[in-house]
Amino acid sequence: MNIAIVGTGYVGLVTGACFSEMGIDVTCVDIDETKIERLKQGIIPIYEPGLEELVKKNFQAGRLHFTTDLATCLNEVEVIFSAVGTPPGEDGSADLRYVLEVARTIGQNMEKYVLVVTKSTVPVGTAQTVKAAIQEELAKRGLKIAFDVASNPEFLKEGTAIKDFMGPDRVVVGIESDKAKELMDRLYKPFTLNNYRMIYTDIPSAEMIKYAANAMLATRISFMNDIANLCELVGADVNMVRNGIGSDLRIGKKFLYPGCGYGGSCFPKDVKALIKTAEENGYEMQVLKSVEKVNEYQKGILFDKLFKQYAGNLKGKTVALWGLAFKPNTDDMREAPSIVLVEKLLKTGVKVKVYDPIAMNEAKRYFGDNVEYAKDIYDAVVDTDAVFLLTEWNEFRLPSWSAIRKLMKEPVIIDGRNIYNANELAEAGFKYFCIGSK
Ligand SMILES: NC(=O)c1ccc[n+]([C@@H]2O[C@H](COP(=O)([O-])OP(=O)(O)OC[C@H]3O[C@@H](n4cnc5c(N)ncnc54)[C@H](O)[C@@H]3O)[C@@H](O)[C@H]2O)c1
Repeated sequence: MNIAIVGTGYVGLVTGACFSEMGIDVTCVDIDETKIERLKQGIIPIYEPGLEELVKKNFQAGRLHFTTDLATCLNEVEVIFSAVGTPPGEDGSADLRYVLEVARTIGQNMEKYVLVVTKSTVPVGTAQTVKAAIQEELAKRGLKIAFDVASNPEFLKEGTAIKDFMGPDRVVVGIESDKAKELMDRLYKPFTLNNYRMIYTDIPSAEMIKYAANAMLATRISFMNDIANLCELVGADVNMVRNGIGSDLRIGKKFLYPGCGYGGSCFPKDVKALIKTAEENGYEMQVLKSVEKVNEYQKGILFDKLFKQYAGNLKGKTVALWGLAFKPNTDDMREAPSIVLVEKLLKTGVKVKVYDPIAMNEAKRYFGDNVEYAKDIYDAVVDTDAVFLLTEWNEFRLPSWSAIRKLMKEPVIIDGRNIYNANELAEAGFKYFCIGSK
């Protein structure tokens, strides 16, 4: 089977690499010429465990191709996945500019039947807008060529993307024709052999499933952050509370970890977009508005802890940040809590040193020369008045506290992910602050 994947980012490149690993002939398309040229040379634009090996292997085997020319390759494939970005517009709604650009290019160049599958996260109704855009372009050419649209939202998580794609909990596909179903069945057959469930729905429901899933996960995080903040005020320990409620099978243990706010390219924008979709339909998403509000508040609480510790006298202090990516095992810093914290620190006249095992290059795009880039966690803490832990990378879990104590000016650790042991740090002579417990 021959397919094309348009948009070679976190989702498109992983999707392309995984389908090609199953023996499918995949052409990855992107408008970014540099990215495509580098991919042809085996240079992977993002950090994702296992991705480099998979891309190189399948590229060398001749099953994975890279091009900037969608117009040419689209007539050689049966299915086109669109995995371009859908960033938030100024009003919070999903910006469909790139999705529609792809649709128009397809309409302007298609010569035969093709199934156009939207993999990007898009509001309900987008498949119909894509269909209309293709039809409009065909009409301009005076042509009537049959095609189908489908929706196949992606649930992979950055950091475990390959594993998630290869062994998904489920594959959701919104379809409106038997032919589309048959093609999607064939394509996902290698994955479903291992009993992964295919869930077929109508297209609007598939589009909504993705938003509802992300909104639910974001809700759990904000809920737990709210509970954590209350725990601090009343003297309860959120870690114990989490364990207690997570053991209830109706609730479950996942996504109950309080922290310094959710970030990343998906939750913030998808929560916003769903609120906006509701607004456009005369409805108010009251829960999600609160989810957003709690998250904004939460991104500020690490700074507040420092502010309180030094009674507001922060000017001239130096701090270190351990971890900049929005979560471990990725270099993605989109909407990361580290960005909000660094902004607040710099505004208050605090000198900031940062370290992340993978996201240092990405960090330079955000912080430029305004922060100092350290070579490891020990280098970062020299002469600092506090250390913030923002991303729970494995290499941060068991540092040598005695070495760190000697290097720091003031022994203050502010743990935004609750990974350290309060007693151990107290014994090592630190003032330790975390989320949701004393
Ligand atoms: N990143 C994730 O973890 C994740 C998970 C599930 C779903 N999604 C959704 O998948 C979509 C893509 O997300 P991403 O993180 O991979 O984005 P990304 O920004 O990493 O990649 C998008 C790519 O599309 C390319 N592009 C834009 N316009 C194009 C065009 N006209 N033709 C060809 N290429 C074009 C860009 O150059 C870029 O390389 C979004 O809708 C996102 O919400 C993302």
